[in-house]
Amino acid sequence: MKGIVFTEFLDLVEDKFGLEMVDKIINQSNLESNGVYTSVGTYKFSEMLQLLQHLSEHTNISIDDLLLVYAEHFFAVLATSYPGLIDSYKDPIDMLASIENHIHIEVRKIYPDAELPAFKVIEKTDNSLIMIYKSSRSMHYFGLGLMNKTFEHFNSSATIQCEKIKEDGTEVKFIIQKN
Ligand code: HEM
Repeated sequence: MKGIVFTEFLDLVEDKFGLEMVDKIINQSNLESNGVYTSVGTYKFSEMLQLLQHLSEHTNISIDDLLLVYAEHFFAVLATSYPGLIDSYKDPIDMLASIENHIHIEVRKIYPDAELPAFKVIEKTDNSLIMIYKSSRSMHYFGLGLMNKTFEHFNSSATIQCEKIKEDGTEVKFIIQKN
């Protein structure tokens, strides 16, 4: 997992819960990095999981809800860091349908070792999209947060349903309907 995902996460934790919480979750985790991340480095996903688990225990917020809120923050980071990628779209449905064959392909050119999910488009109309998310990291709530913010970015909104195809969340169907 790319360092930018860790650095932005820890910044948000500090912002919402204070520096002591950052120290606490780092100290409670068993981290090869020792909790020192650079945005271009690459670190084990298991480090993110441990940080999320400990934050969830201290805040009584589920890991899924933490990922949802974090993704909403991360969208702003992406929009600032890669404005050209997002600006090449005029419509949120078109943008979401292009994650797999455009957006994440560009991401892979920047970060060849990025661990990206697969999004397979099943059905697309002007106002709706059905996609299947697949990833060993089960970060579909992170995807949901990014999708919510994608609609907001285009001054639009949508109702998004998630249906787990696999119980562990490694395969999830997204049913997206523009409001
Ligand atoms: C992960 C970039 C848009 C879904 C990531 C990562 C980067 C990235 C750098 C982390 C990879 C790693 O840590 O190895 C971008 C950029 C975008 C964009 C630059 C737009 C300009 C989106 C959108 C979605 C999405 C709109 C909506 C569904 C995900 C998910 C992950 C991810 C779910 C977590 C990894 C996983 O589930 O396996 N993306 N992304 N991305 N991205 Fe994107």
